[in-house]
Amino acid sequence: MNVALIGAGYWGPNLARVFFELPGCNLHTICDKKKERLDSIKASFPNINTTQDYKTLLGNPELEAIAIVTEAQHHYELAKECLLAGKHVLVEKPLALNSHECEDLIGIAKAKNRILMVGHLLEHHPGIRKLKELIDSGEIGKVYYIYSQRVNLGEIRRYENALWSFGPHDVSVILYLLGEEPESVNALGESYLQENIQDVVFVNLHFKDKRMAQVHISWLDPHKIRKFTIVGSKKMVVFDDMESSEKIKIYDKGADSPGKYVSYGDSITLRIGDISIPKINMKEPLKIECQHFLDCIRENKRPLNDGADGLRVVRVLEAAQKSMENYGTLVKLEG
Ligand SMILES: NC(=O)c1ccc[n+]([C@@H]2O[C@H](COP(=O)([O-])OP(=O)(O)OC[C@H]3O[C@@H](n4cnc5c(N)ncnc54)[C@H](O)[C@@H]3O)[C@@H](O)[C@H]2O)c1
Repeated sequence: MNVALIGAGYWGPNLARVFFELPGCNLHTICDKKKERLDSIKASFPNINTTQDYKTLLGNPELEAIAIVTEAQHHYELAKECLLAGKHVLVEKPLALNSHECEDLIGIAKAKNRILMVGHLLEHHPGIRKLKELIDSGEIGKVYYIYSQRVNLGEIRRYENALWSFGPHDVSVILYLLGEEPESVNALGESYLQENIQDVVFVNLHFKDKRMAQVHISWLDPHKIRKFTIVGSKKMVVFDDMESSEKIKIYDKGADSPGKYVSYGDSITLRIGDISIPKINMKEPLKIECQHFLDCIRENKRPLNDGADGLRVVRVLEAAQKSMENYGTLVKLEG
């Protein structure tokens, strides 16, 4: 399958490497409007075609699929043009910068019968898949709440804020794990380095049945943390992506309450049991994601992270942005 790539900046070369290595896939052309980026990538892929003009890809009948790895503000226009030209499209996260654009892309993909997939990479992470398994099997009981931290010093962007840059990772995982959208969202964030570009954001997601999640995102932080903590009625689980081998720890910990009316002698009992570390067959998530894209094209099947998944995440980010601009007021998600 002939695949082209638009955008060879920081992240693009990773997708180029993966598509280059995947069996049955031919990385056909790499496009970047900046010549210096093409010169640099040519050093790694000397035999691959390059172009500064993405429009040359659209009319090329040899190309079946295009991966868009440009800055987020270009995702919508490029994805739209590629879909209209009849190409299958993988767009990096976020799918677009508002839900109307996402809906438009979903409609075009459907009308053209093309695969539209968004780069929610962590949904393909074997550790996150394991978390999903633990939740769905009932092992950790009813999920009470989840919190995630994605903080570091750096990768400061000039167009989108930390919420739109890092938030798609955490939000996509939380929606994937819980299998539903929140009813409402509120968020607080602040801009310290550039005007109106929030460097640090705290987002709260409120789900039905009192389930909630909090996401802490920052590119202005002394720590490098990439962690999810899930507290369930039976067990608690921590996923730490900074750990090289022991990424998941399951804590057989909890508290059993006798209920609302506590009589003399009844009390809340704490359970502090063993900690277990499940074995995870680690594979590169990006490789799994790109393989999934190719499989969906070949078998004409719906991707796990399809356009609708991209839209769900963008709806949450939009609500969080709105809340942030209104000092943390609660924003309900309609429909
Ligand atoms: N999944 C992840 O972990 C992860 C990590 C980093 C970035 N990303 C995503 O990847 C995307 C790219 O991020 P980046 O950090 O590589 O950005 P970047 O700014 O380093 O690179 C973007 C490149 O796209 C090129 N470009 C833009 N418009 C173009 C056009 N019309 N035609 C040809 N080339 C064009 C630019 O010249 C630039 O070289 C973003 O959507 C980002 O969110 C994902």
